[in-house]
Amino acid sequence: QKADIGLIGLGVMGSNLALNIAEKGHRVAVFNRTTARTTAFAQSAGALAERIVACDTIEALAAAIRPPRPIILMVQAGKAVDEQITLLRGVLSANDIIIDAGNANFRDTVRRFSELRGSGLTFIGMGVSGGEEGARHGPSIMVGGTEDSWRRVEPVLTAISAKYEGEPCAAWLGNGGAGHFVKTIHNGIEYADMQMIAEIYGILRDGLGMPPKEIGGVFGEWNRSRLNSYLIEITATVLAADDAATGKPIVDMILDRAGQKGTGKWSVIEAQTLGIPATAIEAAVAARVLSSMKAEREAAEAAYGKLSAGSFGRDKAAILADLELALFAGKVAAYAQGFAVMDAASKEFGWGLPLPTIAKIWRAGCIIRSQFLGTIAEAFEAGGATRNLLMAPAFIAMMKEAHPSLRRMVARASEEGLPVPALSSALAYFDSYRQARGTSNLIQAQRDFFGAHGFERIDAEGAHHGPWAGEA
Ligand code: 6PG
Repeated sequence: QKADIGLIGLGVMGSNLALNIAEKGHRVAVFNRTTARTTAFAQSAGALAERIVACDTIEALAAAIRPPRPIILMVQAGKAVDEQITLLRGVLSANDIIIDAGNANFRDTVRRFSELRGSGLTFIGMGVSGGEEGARHGPSIMVGGTEDSWRRVEPVLTAISAKYEGEPCAAWLGNGGAGHFVKTIHNGIEYADMQMIAEIYGILRDGLGMPPKEIGGVFGEWNRSRLNSYLIEITATVLAADDAATGKPIVDMILDRAGQKGTGKWSVIEAQTLGIPATAIEAAVAARVLSSMKAEREAAEAAYGKLSAGSFGRDKAAILADLELALFAGKVAAYAQGFAVMDAASKEFGWGLPLPTIAKIWRAGCIIRSQFLGTIAEAFEAGGATRNLLMAPAFIAMMKEAHPSLRRMVARASEEGLPVPALSSALAYFDSYRQARGTSNLIQAQRDFFGAHGFERIDAEGAHHGPWAGEA
C-alpha cells in the first residue's frame, strides 16, 4: 500500500509532524539525510509505525508515495531547502507537490516558485507554528501557493492542524510567498509579545523586588483574564520551575542572552521596506541583539553604576493592576502593527490576505495563540479595522481604558532606569498615531532649508519654499 504523503527531515519538528500525520490515519513515507535517524524514528513510532514507511533513499521515498505525490520538506531554512528541491526534481514527476514547511524567508519562497515554474511540479510555501507540541498534536498552518494546490492537500493539512472550537487552524492565505510571509509576521509579533512580557518581568523583579515564584503567580493570575494566552501561561510555568542541580528558580540560573534565527529581523526589514511602522517588533528584535552583548553591558554597568532595586512604588496592588493593563495596551499596539504590515504586503504583492482568517487560524496551535486573537478576528469581520486595528471600535474602547496604565508604567520604569523598549515604543507609536497635528512640519522646514526639498502648506496646494533661500 502506497503512502498518501511524504516527509523529508526528521528533526524535532519533522518527526512530530510525521507522527501527527500517521495518527490522523494517513500513511506517511519519511526520509532523512542520515539513514540512522530514519531507522530510529520508525522504531520509536510505537503503534503508529504501521502507517510509517521508512525510506533510506530519495528514490525509495518517491516510489513509496501514491502519485501525484505531496512531499513536505521540514529541513533547516535556506540552502538545505534548495538542495532537497534539486534532489526531488530528479525523482518526482508532473503534478507532484513540494511543500516547504520550514521558516523560509518569503523572498526565497517567491524565488523557488519561479525556479519551479515550467517544471510540471507544484510548490507550496507553508508556515507552521506551534513548536514541538504543536507539530505533534496540531499546529497552526499558513499556506501559500495556488488555490488549486491547496485543495489537493487540504484534507491532510486540516486533519493535522490544531482546532479552535472544532474549526481547523489551517488555511490557504494566497499565492506564492503569502504563507511564509504571514508566518514571518507571526514570529515578529511573537518577538514583541515575548519582549513585552520580559519587560514586565523586569519591573516585577527589579522594580518591586519580587522573587520568581511570586512573579509566576502574577502571570498565572493574568492568564485568567484579558491577557489569557499561551505565552503568558508558559511564563507562569517557567517562573515556578526550579533548577534540578541547584534547587534555585531556574530563571535565575539562565544567562540573559537571547538567540534568534531570523524571522523577527525579516519582519522588521519587510515592514521598513513596505513603509509600515512596526516599532514594537523592531524594539523586540533590537532588545535581543542588545541582550547578546553581555560583556559590553557588564562593562557599562560598571561605568554607570547599578540600578537601585525595589523602589518602583509602594501600592503593589495598584501597580500590578496597572502593569496588566500596560501589557495589554502594548500588545494591542504590537498586533496593530503586525496586521498593518500584512495588509500592506497583501496590497504590494497582490495576495489578498484574508486578515480575519489569519487571526482565526492563530487562535489555536501557534505560539501566539490567545483569546485576544478572537477579538481581532471579530474586529476585522465587523469591518471596523480597514486601516489599522487601533481604529476598530472595540479596540478604541480597549485602548481608551488601557493606555493610561501603559503611560504610567513606561514613565515610572523610565524614572527608575528599568528598560522597557518594546512597551515604550508601543506607547510612542500610539501617541504619534493619535496625534492629528504632529511635528514633521518642522522636519519639512529643515529639509527645505538644507536641501530645497519644498513643503506643502496648510492653506494652499502645491510645493512651497521657506523664506530662507540662499541661507543654507
Ligand atoms: C513557532 C515559532 C518557531 C520558532 C522560531 C522563532 O511559531 O512555532 O515561532 O517557528 O520558535 O524559530 O524563533 P527564534 O526565536 O529562534 O528566532
